[in-house]
Amino acid sequence: MNILQRLEIRHPIFLAPMAGVSTPELAAEVSNQGGLGSLGLGASSVAAAREQILKTQALTEHAFQVNFFCHQPEPLDENANQIWLEHLQPEFAKFNSKVPTDLKCIYPSFLDNDDFLNLVLETQPKAVSFHFGIPHQYQIQKLKDAGIITMVSATNLAEAKAIEEAGIDIIIAQGVEAGGHRGIFNPNLDGAIKTFDLIQLIKKYCQIPVVAAGGIMNGQQAKQALNLGAEAVQLGTAFVQCKSSNANAAYRKALFDHPITQITASISGRPARGLINQWACFVDLPDRPNVAPYPYAYDLAKQLNTLAVQQGESGYGAFWAGSNVALIRELEAQDLMNQLILEMNQS
Ligand SMILES: Cc1cc2nc3c(=O)[nH]c(=O)nc-3n(C[C@H](O)[C@H](O)[C@H](O)COP(=O)(O)O)c2cc1C
Repeated sequence: MNILQRLEIRHPIFLAPMAGVSTPELAAEVSNQGGLGSLGLGASSVAAAREQILKTQALTEHAFQVNFFCHQPEPLDENANQIWLEHLQPEFAKFNSKVPTDLKCIYPSFLDNDDFLNLVLETQPKAVSFHFGIPHQYQIQKLKDAGIITMVSATNLAEAKAIEEAGIDIIIAQGVEAGGHRGIFNPNLDGAIKTFDLIQLIKKYCQIPVVAAGGIMNGQQAKQALNLGAEAVQLGTAFVQCKSSNANAAYRKALFDHPITQITASISGRPARGLINQWACFVDLPDRPNVAPYPYAYDLAKQLNTLAVQQGESGYGAFWAGSNVALIRELEAQDLMNQLILEMNQS
């Protein structure tokens, strides 16, 4: 059985799970067009995740994936955190505020919280995917026993091999062009392999299906990825502009007005690619200290952004986008899907 038959979808196009940007409406639109819709639930509470899954199920009878984070807990170094807080003090001062005194772990890992596992087992989405690492073996087994297809992001060969050995069904090969967080298991180890190179590398050494993610904005690029051996493609940035996404007005505008990206760990504590904004200008200075670990740094970034937005400054948002964002088109999800399919068939 190929990937389309297993997932019961008609086209090899996945909407990327995008925490904070995904919505049930966007997921359902993609699934209803024959692709695989997605919900990025890594930043959601269990109750909010349940609500989103149930809403998506009400909007489509077709398959979709849900996505969680499998980050390893990072020890909190109080001293290093204080240095990071001090580095951000001038930014808070711009908005007449003091930097907070402590940082919180705002996102639990799927590894530490079986409430998410139980939610997936209860609501039975067709597929579940993971970023930043592989679930525990007992978690994988329970998902398999329930007939739920499992997928994990890999950014290099070692991660891909570990995913295959763990018994996961599908590898999401995430190249360095990808918008959002790098799926790297170890936040300090990034080979920064390009998407098309990564597909070929993983295909050479692994047997399970590979889905290509990173920098794919049109059907021609999607077809190229398939020709290199990917069984499907996963697109994030191309869908952020859709009306049914949760992106705010400033983010949408910046996608078209300033389509230049860089990778920074300053926002969340883990490297992620996004539009260049105030973080690059004021925080990512050459002498900046080590960032506090993920997701503690993200807590601070979100507080700074809330403060800035309240005072009319939108440039501290985490506007995640892939390196090919300049190719973005203003299209509704349904029309974008149709366009992608047309372009794939023509190339
Ligand atoms: C706004 C945004 C949020 C993202 N959030 C997630 C996420 O929650 N989970 C995940 O596995 N990947 C996430 N990603 C990465 C995507 O899964 C995918 O690797 C990426 O979008 C592919 O590159 P592209 O944006 O160039 O299409 C996100 C990407 C973007 C653009």
